[in-house]
Amino acid sequence: MPLSLAQLRRNYTLYGLRDDAPQDNPLVLFGQWLEQARKTEVPPAEANSMALATVDSRGHAHCRILLLKGFSTDGFFFFGNYQSSKGQELADNPHAAMTFFWPGLERQVRVEGPVARAAEELSDDYFDARPTASQLGAWASPQSQPLAHRSELESRLREVTERFAGRQPPRPEHWGGYCLQPQRIEFWQGRPDRLHDRLDFRLYAGEWQRTRLAP
Ligand SMILES: Cc1cc2nc3c(=O)[nH]c(=O)nc-3n(C[C@H](O)[C@H](O)[C@H](O)COP(=O)(O)O)c2cc1C
Repeated sequence: MPLSLAQLRRNYTLYGLRDDAPQDNPLVLFGQWLEQARKTEVPPAEANSMALATVDSRGHAHCRILLLKGFSTDGFFFFGNYQSSKGQELADNPHAAMTFFWPGLERQVRVEGPVARAAEELSDDYFDARPTASQLGAWASPQSQPLAHRSELESRLREVTERFAGRQPPRPEHWGGYCLQPQRIEFWQGRPDRLHDRLDFRLYAGEWQRTRLAP
């Protein structure tokens, strides 16, 4: 092997997940971990970044980093272009998995479930709250489509900047939110000597059931 990473290892010692932990609601626990991550991670503004995996109609998996923009009992919300590759994959196969990794806390959270488009009003509200430059970017970028040159993107941006001069750009129809409705949420806490803690919550008939998994 020209480059070996085999010697890179870290012993995880910071926290643990106890069997008698009172937490039986994974959304509450997720909120606590996210809050802690915001205080711990560098840069803290990206503690809400996660890898989102989708599977296309041929059964091929695709994964990319996105930002979680909110979560509630309705689900986990993220935003993007409905005509992008991920948009097409979610249209063909509306299931996804998201993974958060917070190295400063030695933690991972995995969330899995069906995905639906967010309500239009929610997408409008979020779009309206974005900086104007991001709003114009959503109009200018045909996300995941080939571009001949960067100048093509810049000229599209000039075009939409002129089009919406003096007014707030409305949300494009091809841009908006998605909501992943969790059916499984797994919390992983690194522990010494690879004896990590894993608590797996699964939704059965509207109730969360918690199981400890071997690391
Ligand atoms: C830190 C970070 C945050 C990102 N946040 C988003 C996001 O919230 N929405 C989005 O559509 N793309 C986001 N991206 C870009 C995506 O990773 C990806 O390039 C884009 O969504 C196109 O993916 P697709 O071709 O699979 O649809 C982010 C990338 C990084 C590195």
